[in-house]
Amino acid sequence: MKPTDVSEAVALQQAISLLKHAHRIVIFTGAGMSAESGIPTFRDALTGYWSKFDPMDLATPEGFAVDPERVLGWYAERRAVAKACEPHQGYEAVVALAKLKQLTVITQNVDRLHQRSGQINVIELHGNILEERCNNCSLIDVEAPETEMPYQRFCQACGGPLRPAVVWFGENLPDEALATAVHELQACDLAIVIGTSAEVYPAARLPSLVKSHGGKLIVINVESTSHSDVADVFLLGAASYYIPKLVDGISGRKF
Ligand code: OAD
Repeated sequence: MKPTDVSEAVALQQAISLLKHAHRIVIFTGAGMSAESGIPTFRDALTGYWSKFDPMDLATPEGFAVDPERVLGWYAERRAVAKACEPHQGYEAVVALAKLKQLTVITQNVDRLHQRSGQINVIELHGNILEERCNNCSLIDVEAPETEMPYQRFCQACGGPLRPAVVWFGENLPDEALATAVHELQACDLAIVIGTSAEVYPAARLPSLVKSHGGKLIVINVESTSHSDVADVFLLGAASYYIPKLVDGISGRKF
């Protein structure tokens, strides 16, 4: 057995022990959770035709004002990719865990893979790409059209342009989702943070939110982050590998 195997096994046992003793759990996911389902990160998706654009052209209110059809085209393609992907076994393990423990999922991802795997009550911090909403009024989200050929649709209530129901650069996170997420992070006794570079709020502040109330922190990531440095247990590896291992560890079930 290599030394790394030993330390990995010890870390996994420590994480399983934290999970066993936890009563109220938050699973917080970022783009790394979706990566193994085949969904590229925003920047990785800027290939081919899209490589000539800057994220600011495609994911800001200003970019939408300049060229709405370009922005709608970008999101139509992202939506088609997301719909073609399937949740991996890490998602199934989260659903299984939710049957065993009080659990809330908070995600930065916009692809709805958690919901498609059967997870209910997912807090979406960055909205989602499967719906559109009015850019001007508070018209509730409506399903985006099933087409890769984008066209501008307008709000039935106020006539404003419909746009992807995501949070763009420079925009605030949705008040209710953010407030609920912060509350859950402060109230949980264990947060498992999976596949986020932890650079944007509230991910960046997550360890202090969890730890200020005595909560424990497990980080799953294929590389070190600011979170892994302060985690109670850092599991260096893929989401689809470690989440099932954790759930196996407390349930006896085999994924
Ligand atoms: P990021 O793309 O910033 O970070 C993804 C994280 O997932 C990285 O830390 C990877 O090491 C990790 N990762 C990759 N594959 C993994 C796997 N199989 N298992 C576990 N971890 C894995 O995504 P987020 O932190 O979610 O916006 O950040 C969301 C967005 O906020 C980013 O896309 C970025 C930022 O503003 C844009 O670039 C448009």
